[in-house]
Amino acid sequence: MSWGQLYGVGVGPGAPDLLTVRAVRVLNDVDVIAIPRPNKWSKSLAWRIAEPNVEKNDEQEHLFLEFPMTKDKSVLGPAWDKAFAAIGQRLAQGKSVAFITQGDPMVYSTFIYLFSAANKLWPEVPVKIIPGVTSISAVPAAARVPLADGMERVAVLPATYGVDDLRQVLNDFDTIVLMKVSSVIQDVVGLLEEEGLLDKAVYVEKASSSEERVIRDVRQIRHDKCVYFSMIVVAKKERAGILSDDAESLQKLEKYWQSGVDEGEGNHAH
Ligand SMILES: C[S@@+](CC[C@H](N)C(=O)[O-])C[C@H]1O[C@@H](n2cnc3c(N)ncnc32)[C@H](O)[C@@H]1O
Repeated sequence: MSWGQLYGVGVGPGAPDLLTVRAVRVLNDVDVIAIPRPNKWSKSLAWRIAEPNVEKNDEQEHLFLEFPMTKDKSVLGPAWDKAFAAIGQRLAQGKSVAFITQGDPMVYSTFIYLFSAANKLWPEVPVKIIPGVTSISAVPAAARVPLADGMERVAVLPATYGVDDLRQVLNDFDTIVLMKVSSVIQDVVGLLEEEGLLDKAVYVEKASSSEERVIRDVRQIRHDKCVYFSMIVVAKKERAGILSDDAESLQKLEKYWQSGVDEGEGNHAH
């Protein structure tokens, strides 16, 4: 028996023209596109992004799979069992299946669970991952805030699990990307205010889509109802590379470039 190929395909952050050429090719080549959605009544965001790139093909199946937005294992377990059965059945028939995810498949995505399970469930099935433009790069582009420069360190964390350790992270890193902020927005803005970082923070929702919103005064959204696809980027910009005034960072940068030249890596043009 020859199994079909399984793909995890990132469809980017929201704009239908931010899919990679490879993602579009795979989506038009596969026998089945597996489409996660929260329930039968909501349209999948990943599919809304991908659909304009998929040519009509009566042979291709669009397999919708429901994954309720919950952390409750007793609800998610049966949903996954159903999805595994549906995907496995098609792979066993030798069909290629592309499971689409918004953004990148390896960043906080439903695909990650499928990826780990696939190894155990279908060890013979080859799994290929097609990276997508992640919101971690789309949000800084929308906000016009560089994510990292020179010696800056970046932290990415989901704010959903509370703001208890956030104070330390804000202290230790130069740029802090706070994903999944919607349900804890009041706590996050409160903490940024306490830390004197309000003017270093930008709120972005639905980056790259036609409904993109960028708010530089994050106090404005403190009492707003935030959408799920929203993020706060805090960029302290205290040691931002060649044009910064931070002498210590500059010295370290020069040393790093020098070591590259010594090892024959050529010039690290900035
Ligand atoms: C389950 S994660 C999915 C991340 C996705 N796989 C990626 O690579 O961007 C969902 C979170 O990503 C962030 N997010 C995803 N797309 C976004 C967008 N277009 N604009 C702002 N935030 C976004 C939000 O913080 C949201 O709560």
